[in-house]
Amino acid sequence: MTDIHSDALVFFGATGDLAYKKIFPALQAMVKRGHLTVPVVGVAKAGWNLEQLRARAKDSLEKHGGVDPVAFVKLLGLLRYVDGDYQDGATFTALRQELKDAHRPAHYLAIPPVLFETVVEHLAQSNCGRGARVIVEKPFGHDLASAQDLNKYLLSVFNEEDIFRIDHYLGKRAVNNLLAFRFANSFVESFWNRNHIHSVEITMAEDFGVQGRGAFYDQTGTIRDVVQNHLFQVLSNLAMEPPVGFDSDSVRDEKVKVLKAIAPIDEKSLLRGQFRGYREENGVAKDSQTETFAALKLEINSWRWKGVPFYIRAGKNLPTTCTEIIAKFHKPPTLIPDIVLTENHLRLRLSPEVIIAMGMMTLRPDAEGLALQSGEMVASHSPRADEMDAYERVLGAAMAGDSTPQEIDRVTPPGGWDNPADKAALAVAGEAA
Ligand code: BG6
Repeated sequence: MTDIHSDALVFFGATGDLAYKKIFPALQAMVKRGHLTVPVVGVAKAGWNLEQLRARAKDSLEKHGGVDPVAFVKLLGLLRYVDGDYQDGATFTALRQELKDAHRPAHYLAIPPVLFETVVEHLAQSNCGRGARVIVEKPFGHDLASAQDLNKYLLSVFNEEDIFRIDHYLGKRAVNNLLAFRFANSFVESFWNRNHIHSVEITMAEDFGVQGRGAFYDQTGTIRDVVQNHLFQVLSNLAMEPPVGFDSDSVRDEKVKVLKAIAPIDEKSLLRGQFRGYREENGVAKDSQTETFAALKLEINSWRWKGVPFYIRAGKNLPTTCTEIIAKFHKPPTLIPDIVLTENHLRLRLSPEVIIAMGMMTLRPDAEGLALQSGEMVASHSPRADEMDAYERVLGAAMAGDSTPQEIDRVTPPGGWDNPADKAALAVAGEAA
């Protein structure tokens, strides 16, 4: 069953912020590439009709990436809308009617997590869940017990292979490029371990605040919003052992080993902060203790990493927007007195552009004698304008029943391939694996 492509995409939360900023642009791009040819049913409780949802889609695209005249018209043709309360069985009866004879729909829950169980229960009761896939996002519960409960609940309705717990960082090319960098270059392995690496820093800085998402953010905080998901994906790619294959199980097995090897974090190794003015944001409690910044130190008790600290930092309203990893090497022994050496480093920038830089000491070209300078050897590229967006990858992969989004290029969608760039990507992905 897993290889059958979904024959409809339902997205709950169609009038919300995530749909506006990320989902409509991803849907248009999927249509443009010929990856989305099935009905797309938006569901929300807004008192809207289909025309209003279409207008919202246009507005979303105008603000986020632009309207592609041909693809947009095709998307409008696929779009359907069901308005109603998620607590009300009638909403799901209407949804079942709108799904017509679709027998493998994918239900994407772009809604607050407190509503997951209600929606899933109604999906099951209304027959919308039969043969279906369900796609959920973070935060998956708010602690271990609630995450386990939610998992148990989803498994009481759906088969494991039909549940997609997505994280858009799984679909980010720059994040997956960490694996290519590590495992497609033989020189990296020789230094990528505790013998050579002194420490690793992972920083995700954003120069904007909560952007109207105060109510969501105040329930969530930085650690649940981006650390335990996005940055742990990055951490896993940096720290894992080579997987025995690039299928999702093999990759996940290696990531799980990294997560299991993380020693419990003690209080002294975690710092939480809040930016000034956060409590004045709409939807934020006046006495909120929610963090908008977090910094933590982790240790990974594996053969490769024992003793190497991993520092993770993330926050809103910081001076810049940038996600970057810096691995510092042990300093070389100083044999010549009075010479100060800076440690070598490897800098891997994931966004806004992709950079791999090696920091090193060299003789200064503008001086005589043993005058040293530190500098970087840099390889960089800016994302292609037509590069697949992370949401496009994860949603496309889930609809294809594939839980390894980087493999999406290998899944032929209904309608086949019609984009030469994708065929090229497919060839490269095939070589890398
Ligand atoms: C989202 C978080 O999941 O990821 C946001 O909710 C954050 O708070 C965003 O800004 C960052 O994603 P990206 O793709 O811009 O790095």
